[in-house]
Order: sequence, then C-alpha cells, then structure tokens
Amino acid sequence: MLQVSDLAEPLAGPGEVRVRIETIGLNYAEILSRKGLYRWAPKLPYVPGMEAYGVIDAVGEGVDQRRVGEKVLVGAQFGCYAEAVVVPEVQALPAVDFFSSEENAAFLVNYMTAWVALFEMARLRRSDAVLVHAAAGGVGSAAVQLAKRFGCSVFGTAGSDAKIELLEKLGVDRAVNYRRQDFETALREETDGRGVDVVLELVGGEVYRKSLNLLAPFGRIVVAGFASLALNRWNPLSWWQAWRALPRARLLDMGVHSYGVLSTHLGYLLNEMAVLRQSWEALGSFVERHQIRPVIGATFRFDEVARAHELMESRRSFGKIILHI
Ligand SMILES: NC(=O)c1ccc[n+]([C@@H]2O[C@H](COP(=O)([O-])OP(=O)(O)OC[C@H]3O[C@@H](n4cnc5c(N)ncnc54)[C@H](OP(=O)(O)O)[C@@H]3O)[C@@H](O)[C@H]2O)c1
Repeated sequence: MLQVSDLAEPLAGPGEVRVRIETIGLNYAEILSRKGLYRWAPKLPYVPGMEAYGVIDAVGEGVDQRRVGEKVLVGAQFGCYAEAVVVPEVQALPAVDFFSSEENAAFLVNYMTAWVALFEMARLRRSDAVLVHAAAGGVGSAAVQLAKRFGCSVFGTAGSDAKIELLEKLGVDRAVNYRRQDFETALREETDGRGVDVVLELVGGEVYRKSLNLLAPFGRIVVAGFASLALNRWNPLSWWQAWRALPRARLLDMGVHSYGVLSTHLGYLLNEMAVLRQSWEALGSFVERHQIRPVIGATFRFDEVARAHELMESRRSFGKIILHI
C-alpha cells in the first residue's frame, strides 16, 4: 500500500545535504520493495524512492563538494518519494545540464546499472553482439542506447508491438516480441547460428535459460534483475516457483561452453566511491559525446503515485516513469 502523508521536514546533519525535489524517477525495485520482496528496504512504514532530481536548499557542517542552489541528482536506497530528502553529499551528483528535469530524474539508476553491467562487468567490445531483455524498459532502453552508440550489434526483446516500435526507433538491429516469436530461435537465425557475445538479463526463469543457450564461446551474461519473480509470501507454491525461476550458474556448463555468468547490484557502488566516480565520469562524457537522452514513457503527479506503480506493474510502460512534485 502506498499512502501520501505529511512528515517533519528533514534536517541536513554533518556531511549531508538536503535536496528540494522536483522530479522522481520510478524503479522496478520499488514495486518489489512495496511487496516486501526487496532485501535492502527498511521496515514498514517507510518512504520509498531511489532517485530524484532537485536543488540543494541546505548543507550540513563540513560539506565541501556541494553548495546551496546547485541542481543535483540524488541516488539512495529509499527516501526519494518526498518533497525533500537528506543524503550524504557524495550521493548528490551534479545534474546533467543539457537534460530536462524529467531526463535528469531518469538518468542515474538506469544508466549507471546499464553502464556497470555492460562496461565494468561484461567488458563490452565494439565487435560484440549484445542481447538486452526487457529492452524497452528503463534499464533496458538505457542499455540499448549505450551499446548501440558504442558500436555493437544490439538485439532486444519486449512483450508488445508498441515496445518493438520504440526499440526500432532506438536503432536496435533486431527487436523480438517474445509473445509472437521464440526469441532464442529468432536470434539464432538472425546470427546465422553463432549466438550473441553479451546478454543483459533482467527477467529470470525461461528467459535466463534460453539466454545461456544463445551465448557464443567467450560470451558473458550479466544478471541484473529478476522482473519475473512473483513471490507471494502467503502462497507457498509461489516460493517454489520463485526458487525455480532464480538464475543459477553451473561451473561445468560454463567450462564446457566457455562462457561467463556475472551479476551486479548498483547498491554496492555506494560503498565503492572510487568505482562510482570513475563510472559516473565515463558515463557522463559518453552520454554527452553521443547526445544520448533518456526515454520518458509517462509522467504523473506525486499524488498519482499508485497509478504510476500500476502502470509499471502492468508491463505496458516503456522507458522511465516520472513523478512530478
Ligand atoms: N542490478 C541493479 O542494480 C538494478 C538496478 C535497476 C534495476 N534493476 C532491475 O532491472 C529490471 C528492470 O528494471 P526497470 O526499473 O528498468 O523496469 P522496467 O524494465 O521499466 O519494467 C520491467 C519490465 O520487465 C519486463 N518483464 C518481463 N517479464 C516480466 C514479468 N514476469 N513481470 C513483470 N515484468 C516483466 C516487462 O517488459 P516486457 O513485458 O516488455 O518484457 C516490464 O515492462 C528489474 O528487474 C529491476 O529490479 C536492477
């Protein structure tokens, strides 16, 4: 259940900044955490929200990198579905000046996730053929843009013809609507039987298993999401189904076929400031050089947050869903 209510204004403590929020970017993990399925979420009730864009209106003692009046992106594990949020100054990153307010709120989590998965984990090469699942979604559309502009051949899967159209506009070499066609068969044909070098896997279950079959020797699959996880804590059958759907890595298969299975979670970057800064700078200059802009699928008023969650859960959303304060 999501409920809008009034809380006391948060104060910036030592080393912290307070950001007056203008726009909030929705993330699939907030659906999972609302359902009690996200291990990083705090105890209920709490304020969800992992990213937002706004202006710093207060700084605590000892803050030296950020200043009042600066436009910033906030990345956090929760707390951003609010008019104001307080975070350590390192979690407030300078906004991208050629982005709109919505584009700034859509940038941090999706593009950093896609960047870290493709470039830090899979070590993408220009000659790679890349397959992106849930490719019309937030992380997916970011990954498609990054891999395509880098010079790779890019294939994407999605569950509707409208999403396939979006993927074609983003320049994918082949988009497969998996409701109409088996993506494994389609992409095996498309690649003359060779398969793909890199897969960004965000779904789990059958999608993971078929993606392994498609990996060419020396391929890398990066598991960064489990969108198909349908765990209902009151239904023990769903525990078993969810357990079966979780991706597994078998060393013997990896050795026999010569591929690698990797996985990443962005939250860990908050403890790895050097990697975070380096990736953020590399991503920022890449996006500026290629004039990449996040895809905004829908915008809602703050008090329509439940409708925004419903849209994301419906699987009809594409790109990023934004809330306006
Ligand atoms: N590792 C990380 O650090 C990290 C960071 C951000 C997000 N993620 C993960 O990345 C995934 C995508 O996140 P997002 O915020 O960009 O969401 P999203 O892609 O905008 O929305 C989820 C999409 O997943 C697809 N999907 C496939 N099977 C599904 C199922 N059984 N139930 C629901 N959706 C299903 C749907 O697209 P189609 O119907 O077109 O397939 C749906 O639109 C999520 O799993 C999220 O948890 C991970």
